[in-house]
Amino acid sequence: MSARGTAAVQERPAPQPSADSLQGHVVIVTGGATGLGRAVALEFAQRGCAVGFNYLEMPGRDVGAQALLTETSIKACGVGCVAVRCDVRSRDEVEQFVGHVRQRLGGVHYLINNAGVTHDGALWRLTAEAWREVLETNVTGAFNCMHAVAAEMRAQRYGKIVNVASHQALRPAFGVANYATSKAALIGLTKAAAVDLGSSGINVNAVAPGFVKTELLTQLPREILERAEHASVLGRVAEPEDISRVIAFLCSEAARHITGQVIVVDGGLTLA
Ligand SMILES: NC(=O)c1ccc[n+]([C@@H]2O[C@H](COP(=O)([O-])OP(=O)(O)OC[C@H]3O[C@@H](n4cnc5c(N)ncnc54)[C@H](O)[C@@H]3O)[C@@H](O)[C@H]2O)c1
Repeated sequence: MSARGTAAVQERPAPQPSADSLQGHVVIVTGGATGLGRAVALEFAQRGCAVGFNYLEMPGRDVGAQALLTETSIKACGVGCVAVRCDVRSRDEVEQFVGHVRQRLGGVHYLINNAGVTHDGALWRLTAEAWREVLETNVTGAFNCMHAVAAEMRAQRYGKIVNVASHQALRPAFGVANYATSKAALIGLTKAAAVDLGSSGINVNAVAPGFVKTELLTQLPREILERAEHASVLGRVAEPEDISRVIAFLCSEAARHITGQVIVVDGGLTLA
């Protein structure tokens, strides 16, 4: 009830239905050829967003062939697609890749830092190379990509950046000191970037998936997966779409007031 003598004010206007804000925009997905990156690329393509993705060959994996398959699936959605071989650890290669996407697709609105590697081993067995490769890919790579898109996003006063962290940053298992450190650093980078870019209308968030059914997971011993299934509160391991839909939400107008946050998408694994 309004105070006597004051006019009633409607503080909350009726919510307006909003169009799917991803439509007609351009997303960059790093490591978009395979696994979770491919699911993210297709999620955005299905919502009418043009996709630029990069990839890098990995030992024992047919990433180049996978990239072609992903590119074909994206184009079948009727949106533009640019696929480039580019190592995110190299600032020069990243600048060229982003410039190419901008030129071919007409801009950059969303950046999904998904490229990541593991090189597991007990702390006392981790080589300098295993440490460097994981930190340089998972942290420096994400930084290079954010750095490359920042000027344009600031100029257009619009942008959404989502970094793919991991539950291992929050509750590491045995033998992932390099990986857990890299994903924890990525969360720190997410928060710092949200502060630096917020006044330019750019949201920066992270998702922290639990185990996700991708090729990366097949490198883990079977019993770890079974244990994860039982340990998670929901009793299941994520499909890539369980993560890609949350990433799309974070890029939508529905999430415009969320920044600097880590959304844990792990079926309750870190609760258990
Ligand atoms: N699968 C899981 O259980 C899980 C859980 C939590 C987080 N994640 C994270 O999700 C992301 C995707 O993982 P995935 O399971 O799809 O694995 P994946 O190995 O299929 O995908 C990783 C992709 O990154 C690319 N890549 C690797 N190094 C690169 C580099 N230097 N430059 C450019 N691209 C490079 C690879 O080409 C590959 O396509 C990773 O960041 C991973 O850490 C995965």
